[in-house]
Amino acid sequence: MNKTLILITIILFSCKPEISTNIVVLSPDDKIQVEVKLDQGMPFYAVQVDGKKCILPSALGYRFRGQPDLTGPFQLTNSNTEVIEEHWGPVWGQEKSIHSLSRAIRLELREVLAPHRQLNLHFRVFNDGVAFRYEIPAQPGIDSIFITEELSEFNFAMDGRSWWIPGDYDSYEFLYTQTPLSDVKSVNTPITMIMDNGLHISLHEANLTGYPGMTLGKSQQSEFSLRSILVPWPDGDKVKQVRQLTSPWRTITIGQKATDLLNSRMILNLNPPNLIDNPDWIQPMKYMGIWWGMHLNKETWVQGPKHGATTANAMHYIDFAAENQIQGLLIEGWNVGWEKWGQPDAFVMTQAYDDYDIEKITAYGRERGVSIIGHHETGADADFYERQLEAAFAYAHDLGIQAVKSGYVGAIRPVGQHHHGQWMVEHYRRVVEMAAKYQVSIDVHEPIKPTGIERTWPNMLTREGGRGQEYNAWSEGNPPIHTTILPFTRLLAGPMDYTPGIFDLRFDRYKPDNRVQSTLAKQLALMVVLYSPLQMAADLPENYVNQPAFQFIRDLEVVWDESLYLEAEIGKFVTIARRHGSDWFLGAITNGDARELEIPINQMLQGEMIAECYVDTEESHWDTNPYPIWMGSYTISPADTLKAKLAPGGGMAIRFRPITKEEMDQDLMPISELRLDQRSTE
Ligand code: NOJ
Ligand code: CA
Repeated sequence: MNKTLILITIILFSCKPEISTNIVVLSPDDKIQVEVKLDQGMPFYAVQVDGKKCILPSALGYRFRGQPDLTGPFQLTNSNTEVIEEHWGPVWGQEKSIHSLSRAIRLELREVLAPHRQLNLHFRVFNDGVAFRYEIPAQPGIDSIFITEELSEFNFAMDGRSWWIPGDYDSYEFLYTQTPLSDVKSVNTPITMIMDNGLHISLHEANLTGYPGMTLGKSQQSEFSLRSILVPWPDGDKVKQVRQLTSPWRTITIGQKATDLLNSRMILNLNPPNLIDNPDWIQPMKYMGIWWGMHLNKETWVQGPKHGATTANAMHYIDFAAENQIQGLLIEGWNVGWEKWGQPDAFVMTQAYDDYDIEKITAYGRERGVSIIGHHETGADADFYERQLEAAFAYAHDLGIQAVKSGYVGAIRPVGQHHHGQWMVEHYRRVVEMAAKYQVSIDVHEPIKPTGIERTWPNMLTREGGRGQEYNAWSEGNPPIHTTILPFTRLLAGPMDYTPGIFDLRFDRYKPDNRVQSTLAKQLALMVVLYSPLQMAADLPENYVNQPAFQFIRDLEVVWDESLYLEAEIGKFVTIARRHGSDWFLGAITNGDARELEIPINQMLQGEMIAECYVDTEESHWDTNPYPIWMGSYTISPADTLKAKLAPGGGMAIRFRPITKEEMDQDLMPISELRLDQRSTE
């Protein structure tokens, strides 16, 4: 799995120092062209796709505290190009093997005037996009680097429709706004757009290491231009480094259609290979949690009469998980600190509440094949968390806890730091590395956005970093369109712990004023559509009892041999099929509109299979009638076209599996005789 085959062809050539120069790099299929130029010594890059202008000349450079801007004039002192090709296999993921092919160029620049500082620019051009990064190499005269602004521009050639969340420095938990690109003022990445010429483009970053997160703001260049705005330190600096610096990659994913964006692995490919030698202890899994009960106010995190994390309750959940092919159980509210919410030094990660016998529970789970997922809510007191970090993971390891969910609700301590600033980026990484040292995987809530570091640190299983299911418990909720935008924005960056799988969609008993804006079938489909190697069946166990539709969750896998992005339109619908061994799992979801789908399955099926279907009925509607679900097993062959009708706010989930010997003797109805778009519960 871990073997990385790296084939590198290097063509080296040196250039005489020049201050006006044009260098062109093409994607391996020659369709994307990046032009990097020094215009009177000032560096710019531009992108064309299929000969058409996509990004017009856009500036590059840095602004410093206590030093002149690093924007030129430069001369080109050296450059080299290479073709980088890799075939590699992730420890877990949406597919078993990944092929990475790009043309790369490194430009060495030197200021024409004193102090003659050096700046290297790196570009990679893939068939599915472009990436660039800065390198300030170690050089005489530079000891400390204090960057006050990164001056990268994304100067689009035209307007487009864009989907984005605000450029908040502490949270990504927003609904998406759709506006013309020209109306964008401040956003967090990924921001995704369909340009007026039809190109689908997403801006983000890869390998965010030792550097703050990048938001984007409006640039003065034109109404279609964005520029980098880094999240600051408390003193206003953006980046602080010693001697030398390498920035994350700025990524421009490019496709002709929405499914091209889902197919892109450029962000993962821009991260270094796996650093964990024997990653067998990293366990992707389905999990449940003593969790939703707290969000519904049925239970509490804090110890008291309604405490969720009691020994008895945990045993009940473990029994349920063990009986239902769920391998993990998250237990929140297990440790002292919740009663001191908001105060410094509150949450102790090594001290359980006294009504929760942690040793008994972890052993009870182990005996039944259910792994306990620990919880480190920090209340955003990253400072106190750091002081107990090693003890916290050693404690988890000793108890046999294989995964920990962490959380950072509130304002960060150290005071003045932001969730997405450099100090926190480095904090989150220290946690990943400490967890790896103790063979613990992690799921971070209120995280830094994913940038593909799970390639390097596959124990970084999943994270939130978006507006998840929890909002349905205590806000106006996530409208049906939300989950049809997430795959093309937040999920392009990496797996998301959205926590789907709610069956009691109205939960009137606990919170009559809140609800989930989805049909039941859509909750199943989300478990396939929203990829996460830790996938939660988020509802209370009692809501799964006697529910035939729960069979889909029992059967579901979370690690895939391949994924097919069958059809999609951003904010409208998406259909994804994923294979594990000989089984395929398909999820299709729609926004608030009903939708008729014709899904081509000939790419998926090799021969005749059984399709176990979970689909909205004619009567289903997320608002007025969310529960009707139509279930049945049929034979299906590659020549069939799967026709289905999704309800407003609805979905469809199907497990395709080989036909058993017994079934071969039975007369199962072929799916071709059954119009999934004409079924009814009657
Ligand atoms: C917010 C997280 O997103 C949620 O999953 C968790 O239950 C609460 N914080 C408490 O830690
Ligand atoms: Ca959250």
